[in-house]
Amino acid sequence: MADAERTFVMVKPDGVQRGLIGEIVSRLEERGLKMVGGKFMQIDQDLAEEHYGEHEDKPFFDGLVDFITSGPVFAMVWEGQDATRQVRKMMGETDPAESAPGTIRGDYGLDLGRNVIHGSDHEDPGANEREIALFFDDDELLDYERVDEQWLYE
Ligand code: RTP
Ligand code: MG
Repeated sequence: MADAERTFVMVKPDGVQRGLIGEIVSRLEERGLKMVGGKFMQIDQDLAEEHYGEHEDKPFFDGLVDFITSGPVFAMVWEGQDATRQVRKMMGETDPAESAPGTIRGDYGLDLGRNVIHGSDHEDPGANEREIALFFDDDELLDYERVDEQWLYE
């Protein structure tokens, strides 16, 4: 496998409330990505402010922190070839209204502030590793082989 990497993915509070955890996990699994960590949790204020620290000066920051702490999320780490960029492609654009049908945000969202899923930004080098470390301890991430790996990768 070329470019195997891990990326951080999260079903946001709206996705959890709307019963979309299974659908989102299914899409990533069926694509061939491998879940190596998962945690159903509620994000506190400090973790939210750190996770979205890049946006602290933006007008939407307080609302974003309120939203992401408003209910349970399902935080995950997924592994695979070019995983960070591929997950972002599957998510669609930041604004669901601009996201193509077939993408997660394009199929399940309408509003910028309720866009169902988070994935590490592939255009921000190191964002995936930084976010994984923020949400998971090393011993919460598992190394294993999926039985279909030889059929997923040349
Ligand atoms: P995320 O980090 O949540 O996965 O989303 P993203 O990379 O696609 O977008 P990002 O630029 O990181 O923005 C984080 C979240 O802030 C909200 N947002 N609101 N009102 C606005 O102009 C605005 N811009 C962004 C979105 O909910 C976005 O997911
Ligand atoms: Mg982002």
